[in-house]
Amino acid sequence: MSNNKKSDKFLKLINKHKETKKKEKFSGVLADYLSLLEENYDIPKLAHKRLYDVITSEGVSKMDKSSERSHKLFGGEELKTYDYFQGQFFGMERSLAKIMRFLRSASLKGEESRQVLLLLGPVGAGKSALMEHIKRALEKCDSMYHIEGCPINEEPLHLIPRSLRQEFQDLYNIKIEGDLCPVCRHRLKEEFNNDYTQMPISQSSFSARGRRGVGVVPPMDANSQDVTVLIGSEDISKLDLYSEDDPRVLSLNGAFNVGNRGIVEFVEVFKNEIEFLHTMITATQEKSVPSPGKGPMIYFDGVILAHCNEAEWNKFKSENTNEAILDRIVRVNVPYCLEVSEEAKIYKKLLGLSDFDGHIAPHTLEVASMFAVLSRLHPSNKVDALTKMKLYDGKDVIEKGTVKKIDINDLRDEARDEGMTGISTRFIMKAIDSALSDSEKNMVTPISIRDVLIKQVKEQVVAEDDRNRYLDFLGKTLHEEYLNILEKEITKAFVSAYDEQAEALFNNYLDHAEAYVNMATVKDSVTNEEIAPDEQFMASIEEQIGITGTSRENFRVDITAFMFSKLRRGDKVDWKSYAPLKEAIESKLTSSVKQISRIVTKSKSRDKKQKSKYNEMVNTLIEEYGYSEDSAEEVIKFAANNLWRDS
Ligand SMILES: Nc1ncnc2c1ncn2[C@@H]1O[C@H](COP(=O)(O)OP(=O)(O)OP(=O)(O)O)[C@@H](O)[C@H]1O
Ligand SMILES: [Mg+2]
Repeated sequence: MSNNKKSDKFLKLINKHKETKKKEKFSGVLADYLSLLEENYDIPKLAHKRLYDVITSEGVSKMDKSSERSHKLFGGEELKTYDYFQGQFFGMERSLAKIMRFLRSASLKGEESRQVLLLLGPVGAGKSALMEHIKRALEKCDSMYHIEGCPINEEPLHLIPRSLRQEFQDLYNIKIEGDLCPVCRHRLKEEFNNDYTQMPISQSSFSARGRRGVGVVPPMDANSQDVTVLIGSEDISKLDLYSEDDPRVLSLNGAFNVGNRGIVEFVEVFKNEIEFLHTMITATQEKSVPSPGKGPMIYFDGVILAHCNEAEWNKFKSENTNEAILDRIVRVNVPYCLEVSEEAKIYKKLLGLSDFDGHIAPHTLEVASMFAVLSRLHPSNKVDALTKMKLYDGKDVIEKGTVKKIDINDLRDEARDEGMTGISTRFIMKAIDSALSDSEKNMVTPISIRDVLIKQVKEQVVAEDDRNRYLDFLGKTLHEEYLNILEKEITKAFVSAYDEQAEALFNNYLDHAEAYVNMATVKDSVTNEEIAPDEQFMASIEEQIGITGTSRENFRVDITAFMFSKLRRGDKVDWKSYAPLKEAIESKLTSSVKQISRIVTKSKSRDKKQKSKYNEMVNTLIEEYGYSEDSAEEVIKFAANNLWRDS
């Protein structure tokens, strides 16, 4: 019964879909088309503009400059972001902005409209995904009008003879580019006695699968390479019926024919033989492609997109006979993501797309993502790898009681082409899959992912330098970093009302520091008495981040000034506002429960009080932090074995 209802509902949807399809489809002749243009001069726009318009129509924003990410990572740069890519592509704003800049200039018929856009990046950096997404944009845009039955869906305005074009342009302010294809020309003559006002015009949507307005050229080796893939061929079976120069023998089904009006994509473009690429260059530069056989060139209007990885590109570039081609390419690097939190979003997206239903313990994707980013960073003399990773992620790094002041742009400058090497997204996804299938409990934890990553690196990373560096990251850097994260997490779970306690410490500290700086007194919250600032209390916080002796005074002055300036600007102030103090407070709270953490997590048999404390902690991990019973057990065991060893 309920099935029936579902099918009813769906049939209705089908009918509705059919209706809208029917209604949309235009059918007419030149006169009808011209009256359409009168309402919308945009209809005959060229491919680059069509693509640019449909992508930007989803929304364009300036990156929110007040946001922390923008401020720290893009400081000063006025970066535009495009809604069409949001939620799908992460940490790629710069590449996307460059791609869109290309499309914009091309849509204004600048030199870019006669260039190939080449995406260059390492394996698994999202080039293919990006291409797919861009092609899909075309499928969303309005259908194109074209001469009915034209194998290359050409623009109906091509019907207008050269001698009338200037008048047309004066009237409509539309410049007509291109001439009829040989097939339409032949038809016009034979079927319509050259009366171009009678040629039928219709409308089709773009479709990658339907090969309408989207042509794809897969890489081909020298042997199987045949230019017919690009420009179509002569149909041998028809050569019996028609003479060789009769356009009816043409099969215009090559990528440039199919992709006319839209996009032609060259997959791994430089795997192709150079001769093959000349057609690509002609297509951009002359806006026409050869006809199969001996016919004249055929007008082509389309966006030519290509992608490849760096090794192929370098090989190609080194052969300097290729200069003519190089000159016609706009290269956009698509490096790996270098922001830990954005990288983790990629994994989340990919997991969401799969049938994956296991449990992912907190910080698992973060740890995997840290590894990926670390592997991609170039070494710097200014900072160690972990610090650089954090800075790139917009995190404050505390050193000697102050936020480390390093300009990210300097780090970027000294490491040009960063992100073009390292561990790929796919490598990490494989590790997540394999950690999951190894697990008896259908879960992945930071601990199991690290184990699998180590295994995978040993098995799959061939270059010895890289392998050692990666193993060092996994074995040392990330081991320690994860323990830090875990210790904080367990402390939080132990301290009831963690945030309140932290906030109380913070307020208390500020009161005393401020009084100290102003040589004033503090009102005791219990006795209401005015008392001198509590040196011992302040020191107990400061020593957490290694501030002792005379540097204390500076620290107190700094923080008081910082808080005042924030308050003056009307900003909200809480215990997380000043990174060094936040770290000190966290550390203070951690050490306050260190003893009990150690005893309770390590001991095999707990007394009643310890048991209840333990259960409370586990409960918090599960209820509030998103662990499962099994993953909580695993990380606690790990903490017991690895933390608190020295006490
Ligand atoms: N920055 C990113 N944002 C979102 N998804 C990404 C990003 N980088 C990679 N991916 C995802 O990773 C997967 C692999 O990427 P893709 O196949 O597009 O890589 P590629 O650059 O074409 O690699 P190859 O050179 O091996 O063909 C895709 O599913 C893609 O969605
Ligand atoms: Mg690819």
